[in-house]
Amino acid sequence: MIKHIGTNSIETIRLILRRFRPEDTFDMYKNWASDMETLKYLSWGPHSDVNVTHRRILSWVENYKNPNVYNWAIYLKSDNQVIGSISVEMSNDKDKSCEVGYCIGKSFWGREIVAEALRAVMHYLFFEVGYKKIIAKHDVKNIASGRVMQKVGMHYEKTIRNVGRRRDGSLYDVAMYVKYNE
Ligand SMILES: CC(C)(COP(=O)(O)OP(=O)(O)OC[C@H]1O[C@@H](n2cnc3c(N)ncnc32)[C@H](O)[C@@H]1OP(=O)(O)O)[C@@H](O)C(=O)NCCC(=O)NCCS
Repeated sequence: MIKHIGTNSIETIRLILRRFRPEDTFDMYKNWASDMETLKYLSWGPHSDVNVTHRRILSWVENYKNPNVYNWAIYLKSDNQVIGSISVEMSNDKDKSCEVGYCIGKSFWGREIVAEALRAVMHYLFFEVGYKKIIAKHDVKNIASGRVMQKVGMHYEKTIRNVGRRRDGSLYDVAMYVKYNE
């Protein structure tokens, strides 16, 4: 049975995964929401100014009222700042499956931070919430994201062709990875 419990804090060695707060606006704008390179493979483009980021965070804060929302800020303890996000982007309660997505700013790439966050989130979703299947997908060109999925023990399932258009108009394929709670 799925038991929705919402976004509660999770602590790992280097990170605290917690709810977004209005005061995270500047960190989010600076670290990832304003950076074209970081957002290259995401569906949304850079925020034109910090007010756009602020409104986005306010809407996320409002959404936490809903217990089936899982959307964590990734707070890096050593730097005392929020460096990215990790969330459930789609959920199918009937199948007990969900899809996760993540992003951190490029100054923090290459330190296996997302794998640390994703392992903790998968544990939460399997053992606290009750999902049986966790999915993650990446643009086939976004090799780095696929590496994260492999590092946390997800298995490549298939490639889905022409799922959408990148912001530059080109069609893209996604590789789908899955982890079951066995
Ligand atoms: C993709 C992403 C999640 C990887 O997170 P990370 O914590 O940097 O991951 P890792 O440190 O485990 O590195 C994963 C791979 O990234 C690549 N990488 C490492 N450092 C890098 C750097 N400084 N610049 C570019 N790529 C780098 C390497 O290919 C690495 O694989 P390897 O460990 O086998 O060499 C992160 O780069 C990111 O948030 N990117 C922007 C948003 C995004 O693309 N999200 C995923 C959408 S599906």
